[in-house]
Amino acid sequence: MIAHTSRLRLETLSEAHASAMFPVLSDERLYAYIPDVRYVSVEALQERYRRLERGSLSPEELWWNFIVFRHDLPTPIGYVQATLMPSLRLAEVAYVLSPLHWGRGYATEALSWLISEIGRRGDIDRAQAQIDQRNFASIAVVRRLGFMFSRTMVEETSIDTLFERGLNLPA
Ligand SMILES: CC(C)(COP(=O)(O)OP(=O)(O)OC[C@H]1O[C@@H](n2cnc3c(N)ncnc32)[C@H](O)[C@@H]1OP(=O)(O)O)[C@@H](O)C(=O)NCCC(=O)NCCS
Repeated sequence: MIAHTSRLRLETLSEAHASAMFPVLSDERLYAYIPDVRYVSVEALQERYRRLERGSLSPEELWWNFIVFRHDLPTPIGYVQATLMPSLRLAEVAYVLSPLHWGRGYATEALSWLISEIGRRGDIDRAQAQIDQRNFASIAVVRRLGFMFSRTMVEETSIDTLFERGLNLPA
């Protein structure tokens, strides 16, 4: 699937995106507040993307992963993802953008599209985002899109805030 917003193109993640995404994901600034694994090579990221492309093995979960491009640049700038749990009528969302493109509203634009797309299914009522409480940029993104504080979660290396919104709001 390929979708367009005013400034972005979102492509369903595939193994073919790994070589262009590897340099994007190699920037250490991405990992200040997220516990994600670092991939040591393009091949390792390809393997990860193959796994994501195959999707969840559980019938209870759907994995959505989209690579984000600007219309005016050939290389990707990041990704957005959602884990959909229709039996709970719930989706968890996450997003990572290259620091080269921070502060221009791209994460907000990409997440807004993702939320609308999830809402169109009709079987999910709520979206949640779990965010390190020091990650002010990410908190600004979800707040701008109408997410509200749900609860605090104490994790191994961080204290996170769970934000939540209903999908019947305009995204
Ligand atoms: C979080 C992230 C996706 C934001 O991307 P982005 O494209 O810069 O986001 P946007 O430009 O859409 O919005 C950023 C918002 O944060 C605000 N912001 C940026 N830095 C900030 C800071 N240090 N303190 C407070 N607010 C900040 C901006 O003003 C903007 O808010 P506004 O729209 O109300 O003005 C990006 O920083 C990122 O990829 N970080 C690393 C991965 C990560 O932490 N992902 C989130 C996991 S929960």
